[in-house]
Amino acid sequence: AFNLKNRSFLTLLDYSPKEIKYLLDLAADLKRAKIGGYEQPTMKGKNIALIFEKSSTRTRCAFEVAAYDQGAQVTYLGPSGSQIGVKESMKDTARVLGRMYDGIEYRGYGQQIVNELAEFAGVPVWNGLTNEFHPTQILADFLTMMEHTSKDLKDVKFAYLGDARNNMGNSLMVGAAKLGMDFRAAAPVQCQPKQKLQDRCQEIASKTGAKITITDSVAEAVKDCDFIYTDVWVSMGEPDEVWAERIELLKPYQVNKEVMVMTGNEDVKFLHCLPSFHNNETQVGQDINKKFGLTAMEVTDEVFESDASIVFDEAENRMHTIKAVMVATLGL
Ligand code: CP
Repeated sequence: AFNLKNRSFLTLLDYSPKEIKYLLDLAADLKRAKIGGYEQPTMKGKNIALIFEKSSTRTRCAFEVAAYDQGAQVTYLGPSGSQIGVKESMKDTARVLGRMYDGIEYRGYGQQIVNELAEFAGVPVWNGLTNEFHPTQILADFLTMMEHTSKDLKDVKFAYLGDARNNMGNSLMVGAAKLGMDFRAAAPVQCQPKQKLQDRCQEIASKTGAKITITDSVAEAVKDCDFIYTDVWVSMGEPDEVWAERIELLKPYQVNKEVMVMTGNEDVKFLHCLPSFHNNETQVGQDINKKFGLTAMEVTDEVFESDASIVFDEAENRMHTIKAVMVATLGL
C-alpha cells in the first residue's frame, strides 16, 4: 500500500501513476465494502470543511456521504454566508480552518487559490474543481471505465469532444498521460488545451507510453474509441456573447448517434461529468436552446438516454472515489 497520509489532492500532476492506480483500487474496494455491508469507518472523530464558492450537486453530496460513511462530520461553507472572499483572504482562512478541521475541500476559481489554501492550512486540502483542474472527477471517470471494459486502462482509447481547454479537458489529458492511455481531444483550435500543458502531458506520456492526440477532427479523434466523453460548452454566469460564440464553434463537436457510430465500435460507451443540457427539462435548458435555436447542445438526448450511456454509474463513482481520496490522505 502507498502512504498518502496528510497529502493534499490538488491536481493529478502531483500524483504518480502508481499512486493514482492505488486510489482507484481503494475506491473499488470501498465501493464493494459499502455494497457488501462491511465498510469500516476510518475517519471517526474527524471534522471536514467543505468550501463551495460555486454551486454543486455531485461533488458536495459525494464529499458529505463519503465523510458520513467513514464516521466523519462535515461543515458546508457555501458561496455566501462566511467571510471567505469578502472580508478574509484565503491565506487567513486556511490558517483558521486548519486549526479546527482535519481536512478541507475547496471548489471555486483559480488553481492558485486551492494551492494557497493547501500551503497554509496544515491539513490535507482536496480540489473539488477549479478553473484549471477537476481531479476527483477524473478518478470517478477512470473507475467507471474500469467497470465497463475488460481492458487495462493503459489499453483504453477514449476521446473528449468539445471545449478541451476547460478543467475537464485539462484533467482528462493529465490523467490519461499519467496512466498510459490513448487520449484524443477533438476541439476547434481556440478550444484546445494550452500548449504548455500539452507539452507537459507529452513529456509524461513519453515515460508512461500514453498517446495524446489533440485535433480539430472528430473522425480522427473517435476512431476505434472505447469511450466518448463530453462536457457542457459554456459555464453558467458567462455572458450571452460567449455562449453565442462558443456554441457556433462547438456545434460540429456535438456527441450524437453519428459520432458514436463513427467510432466503429458497437460497444462504445458515453461519459459526461454532468450536469448536462441534453434535454429541455430545465428552465435554463429551455431558455438556452430557444435563444440559440438548438434542439440539443453538447450531447443529444438520444445518446444520453441510450444503453451506451454510463453517466449515472459515473456520477455514483464520484462518491466512492472521493471517499478513497479522503481515506488515503486522512483515514486511520
Ligand atoms: N461533475 C460535477 O462536478 O458535478 P457538480 O457540479 O454537481 O458537483
